[in-house]
Amino acid sequence: MAEKSILITGGAGFIGSHLVRYFVNKYPNYSIFNLDKLTYAGNLENLKDIENAPNYTFIKGDICDRDTLKKLFEKYGIDSVIHLAAETHVDRSVNDPLEFVKTNVIGTLTLLQVAKEFWQKDNYEGKLFYHVSTDEVFGSLDLDGGYFTEDCKYEPHSPYSASKASSDHFVRSFYDTYKMPIVISNCSNNYGPNQFPEKLIPLFINNIRHNRELPVYGKGENVRDWLYVEDHVSAIDLIFHKGKIGETYCIGGKNEWKNIDIIKRVISITDELLGRESGASLKLIKFVTDRPGHDLRYAIDCTKLERELGWQPSYTFDDGIRKCIEWYLNNQEWLDQVTSGDYKNYYDKMYKGR
Ligand code: NAD
Ligand code: DAU
Repeated sequence: MAEKSILITGGAGFIGSHLVRYFVNKYPNYSIFNLDKLTYAGNLENLKDIENAPNYTFIKGDICDRDTLKKLFEKYGIDSVIHLAAETHVDRSVNDPLEFVKTNVIGTLTLLQVAKEFWQKDNYEGKLFYHVSTDEVFGSLDLDGGYFTEDCKYEPHSPYSASKASSDHFVRSFYDTYKMPIVISNCSNNYGPNQFPEKLIPLFINNIRHNRELPVYGKGENVRDWLYVEDHVSAIDLIFHKGKIGETYCIGGKNEWKNIDIIKRVISITDELLGRESGASLKLIKFVTDRPGHDLRYAIDCTKLERELGWQPSYTFDDGIRKCIEWYLNNQEWLDQVTSGDYKNYYDKMYKGR
């Protein structure tokens, strides 16, 4: 019998696919169940290399669907949840906030309720609900305005961050009200392979390659704190195994970049790797109308995670960003498939009727 039966939600997405692969490979004694609705952001090709691993099962389904969740808990004896499934793109949330409430709020609450229903009878013995959240719930910092920590008040500005903030509150309410063992982490911007190319870094690498415009919002002065996705995953691993129940952990890269500066860095490396003259693609930069409610700066102080759990990121930015750009340039087919929607057929080809 498996040591643990872990339900990872959103495991076909960007961070989720890295997390699923890491857990499947590192913990052969755990059974990993990946529940994903396969929205535009979910792509099973991200997990091709482990899809036949004996400790891995994929289930196509929606976290809002209570019956599917109940069947999963019943059939597989789920004892831990690592919850990543979400609508995640701020710009989409500006256009369609309701979809974000459905998945991020109602979906999270539905999952919490089913976990409670199955776990409460054992007094939550050996159970854990790990909620993966974002630094955006804390709002925005001034350019010289300190750092986000676990003690910051919630002050979300976009429909996306408001929905994630709401989900965090529901998760904590289940700890306070029902004594469900929970843990929450709030992470800064991730970069790396397999990110859907509507987010800044993969979008810009793809556009540079195709000589398309690079739309910089406002003046490009907003600041983000960038972390290589595998370092986020190693933090999740530590928190899952050693985090204190009921606590929040902030995860960040101590790696702040003004958008326009990181964009120039991406242009410089991409041009070099494409064999173009240095700076040839700078001409593609186009300053466009700013994102409404655009948060000025995110920056994380992750001292608690370092001090209490001994976490350290393993990638320098120089190494991480080069590896990331190389991946997108070497995986043009992946980019073409996700931008054309072709990858949607993969589920039908590989899984339907299994
Ligand atoms: P993503 O958009 O790449 O992937 C989301 C995944 O969730 C997709 O596979 C999608 O199919 C799935 N999904 C969406 N709605 C679903 C539903 N109703 N039921 C089941 N599955 C559903 O997202 P990501 O960037 O990998 O982010 C994963 C998590 O990490 C999110 O909760 C996000 O808020 C959080 N986070 C992301 C970042 C970042 O920089 N990307 C930083 C901090 C926290
Ligand atoms: O901080 C964590 C968050 O990081 C996650 O919770 C979100 O899921 C994730 O999408 C990300 O949010 P951002 O809004 O910071 O990421 P995005 O890649 O959309 O944008 C990064 C910055 O670049 C932001 O300041 C907006 C700017 N931008 C983005 C795009 C897509 C542009 O200037 N032009 C663009 O075309």
